[in-house]
Amino acid sequence: MDTVFLRVTPSDPEKDVIKKAADCIKSGGLVIFPTETVYGLGADVFNPEAVKNIYKAKGRPSDNPLIAHIAEPSWVERLAREVPDGAYKLMDAFWGGPLTIILKKREGVPDAVTAGLDTVAIRMPSNSTANLLIRMADTPIAAPSANLSGSPSPTTFMHAKSDMDGRVDMIIDGGNADIGVESTVVDMTGQTPVILRPGAVTREDVASVCGDCIYGGEYSDAPKCPGMKYTHYSPKANVFAVKDFENFALPESAEAGRTAVINYDMYKTDGVLFYSAGNDDFDYAARLFYLLRKADEDKIDTVYAALPKDEGIGTAIRNRLLKSAGGKVI
Ligand code: TXA
Ligand code: MG
Repeated sequence: MDTVFLRVTPSDPEKDVIKKAADCIKSGGLVIFPTETVYGLGADVFNPEAVKNIYKAKGRPSDNPLIAHIAEPSWVERLAREVPDGAYKLMDAFWGGPLTIILKKREGVPDAVTAGLDTVAIRMPSNSTANLLIRMADTPIAAPSANLSGSPSPTTFMHAKSDMDGRVDMIIDGGNADIGVESTVVDMTGQTPVILRPGAVTREDVASVCGDCIYGGEYSDAPKCPGMKYTHYSPKANVFAVKDFENFALPESAEAGRTAVINYDMYKTDGVLFYSAGNDDFDYAARLFYLLRKADEDKIDTVYAALPKDEGIGTAIRNRLLKSAGGKVI
């Protein structure tokens, strides 16, 4: 298929441009759009055929459910049948923003979206382009990250294009994703909020609003976030997460042109390619996927990447980095 490319001004997206994309969604098409976390690959939640095409375009296993993106908190009622008080509090505190809330689904939400589960994942993005697109389409938009299954999520238009050109109807260029790691996923169907995927909204953030919050999903024995069992974020390069960079020496075998180091600005590493993670973990989150893809573009064999502290958004970076590294920590 010939993919159409659209471009908007991120701070004030042009309505006439977004209308084309919204019409495409309404007529069952696939549209890639920017969000504040990563680029998403969207289709109308209530069009099962269109949703199935998302899985085809990504090469994604069909037992990994999608997030329904909405434009207003009130749209939750189009998707969920039970909304506990805690969920409303989280919406007030963190929407629009990088928080996905799992709720019991309403009848009529297609199995193609939820992979047959009795629950549905819902998020209201803060990104203006995403919000306007969903609003103009006037339907929730099911959207996973806009990468081929298994590769790092796209945080730029170019990365979305390099994976998906020819596989979707439209791609909207709306600038770079600010946050750079996918939304926090919190399950609100039980007594206590359970974080199934860490993101920019932290466990402490959720606990501060709901009183309590625990980690679950891949942190527990029985993954409740089905996607967790699949390989993720893997560049072609071999990735190692480095715990203590100050006391780490590159192995003798590290070849100058084929090795890269991802580290904070304050710890420059000589001799091999230095990819700056920026000054803090917010910078690092915004750059991680970009740099993992750059390693492949630069034909790097081996990446040594600093493992952040397990706090704040660092927890989400660690989670994604350890997956890219296949668990290899040195
Ligand atoms: O930031 C984000 O969340 C991005 C942007 C595009 O919004 N989207 C994204 O989607 O990361 P995706 O499909 O790559 O990840 C969705 C995650 C998966 O791990 C999936 O298993 C989980 O959410 N999920 C979806 N529905 C679920 C459900 N009903 N119960 C448990 N986990 C669910
Ligand atoms: Mg993804």
